[in-house]
Amino acid sequence: MSSLKRPAAREAFGSRNVFILAAIGSAVGLGNIWRFPYVAYEGGGGAFLIPYLCALLTAGVPLLFLDYAIGHRFRGSAPLAFRRMHRAAEPLGWWQVLICVVIAVYYAVIVAWAVMYTWFSARLTWGVGNENDFFFSDFLRMGDVAESGVSSEFVPQVGLPLIGVWLVVIVIMSLGVKRGIGAANVILMPLLTLMFIALVVQSLFLPGALDGLNAFFTPNWQALGDPAVWAAAYGHIFFSLSVAFGIMVTYSSYLKPKSDLTGSGIVVAFANSSFEILAGIGVFAALGFMAAAQGTDVSGVATSGIGLAFVAFPTIVSNAVGGSIIGVLFFGSLVFAGVTSMMSILEVIISALQDKLGWGRVPTTLAVSIPLAFISMALFSTTTALAVLDTADAFVNAFGIMAVAFVTVIVVAWVLHRLPMLQAHLNRRSSFPVRSWWRLLVGILAPVVLGYLLYSELQSKITEIYSGYPAWFVAVFGWGMVVTLIVGGVLLSLLPWSERSRAKTDPGYDEYLQREAYDADRETGTLETLHTEETR
Ligand code: ALA
Repeated sequence: MSSLKRPAAREAFGSRNVFILAAIGSAVGLGNIWRFPYVAYEGGGGAFLIPYLCALLTAGVPLLFLDYAIGHRFRGSAPLAFRRMHRAAEPLGWWQVLICVVIAVYYAVIVAWAVMYTWFSARLTWGVGNENDFFFSDFLRMGDVAESGVSSEFVPQVGLPLIGVWLVVIVIMSLGVKRGIGAANVILMPLLTLMFIALVVQSLFLPGALDGLNAFFTPNWQALGDPAVWAAAYGHIFFSLSVAFGIMVTYSSYLKPKSDLTGSGIVVAFANSSFEILAGIGVFAALGFMAAAQGTDVSGVATSGIGLAFVAFPTIVSNAVGGSIIGVLFFGSLVFAGVTSMMSILEVIISALQDKLGWGRVPTTLAVSIPLAFISMALFSTTTALAVLDTADAFVNAFGIMAVAFVTVIVVAWVLHRLPMLQAHLNRRSSFPVRSWWRLLVGILAPVVLGYLLYSELQSKITEIYSGYPAWFVAVFGWGMVVTLIVGGVLLSLLPWSERSRAKTDPGYDEYLQREAYDADRETGTLETLHTEETR
């Protein structure tokens, strides 16, 4: 042991404000800008705010607190934090890491498309009236998986910016938590906010904007009786807040021991939702203009995700006065929001390997990012990228994020009985105390809601082949992928921790535990045992 080189102390964010900015940077991502507006519109417009707020307050925020408490209390990446909670819980952490692997490889390519579209917007490259064909045929050169299987035909206009995105992210990640992630968020988040506000203001002045806002906000109360609308709200909130897939566990492990966890969580959740609602206003004002220009209803032009960003928006850019500026602001915002979220997704993987292997920052970053960049290129810079992306995204959300969230709350609350201890940890330093309502929400409501959502997703995905793709394709990139994540998580947890791993050598953790125990004793006047199953 003594001949081993001791690893440097665990990295940390420069301050609580930088942590909050990074957590907002992670939460505000592609999901806010091109997913939320449509989910909200489909789910009853103004009335959707009710299930949305319910999902946020009863599941999003309580599970955000849970992630913070686990990461901060056990001071580790997801696998290490879960292992420190209980040896047998380590696979949960690896499952979350592998979910991030899948998300990282497809997230990067959407950012790469947005980079190209920022450039195209300035020059209206797609040709007025040709936005749909340009995206699917000229830009993506989309092929049919049913005819040609998974293609290896390289599409350079996607592949080259994708290399660029990976290079930028690799440089940031190599610089570490403080100088890389923290500094990038300090620069990019204010820029993103300014750009996005400018975009929304400009959209509001477009002719027809008011019709768009009416369509967005007019409540359809009947939608509230539809369980699918509630499911959509709950399903959206986990991805949107970056909850339950390791990100917030990892980020909060970089906080100083004396940190206000719940206060920070409330700021992050509020900022994320504000951004989301602002996105809804901006996007629907622009869609109102598009509908007016085409002489149709807003319902005729409102499309989801990829269609909204890469077909509807270019059409708006083509037709509006000052359209190029709108395009540059919109796609530039997608790039910045995407990069700050992608950093957090990668950090889950990098931090886990650093903890397990005890390697330095730069070698771990390269060992994680270079293979992922290759996978990303191989799958998503070819003519069948869109089908793979669509399937992987749908399955990883339902049977990755929601499934791991479900198993995590069951294990933490019902198998290991750790909620009282995590509640005490949250309350030790936080400005906003959590009471027994938090344990009820995490331990009872969350598993019930998540269990129902999983059941209904399973039913719909088993009875109908997803999106009409060939069955073998959904079996590989949908079901096969989600099963691999679970099996892979268990296998990774069986690998031994290297002698250099932080789990064994973290010099700060003992001190941290002693300090926590001391503070707890002082506060309660009793000898509270800080319950933990150490790895050593
Ligand atoms: N929270 C991130 C998003 O909304 C992952 O895109």
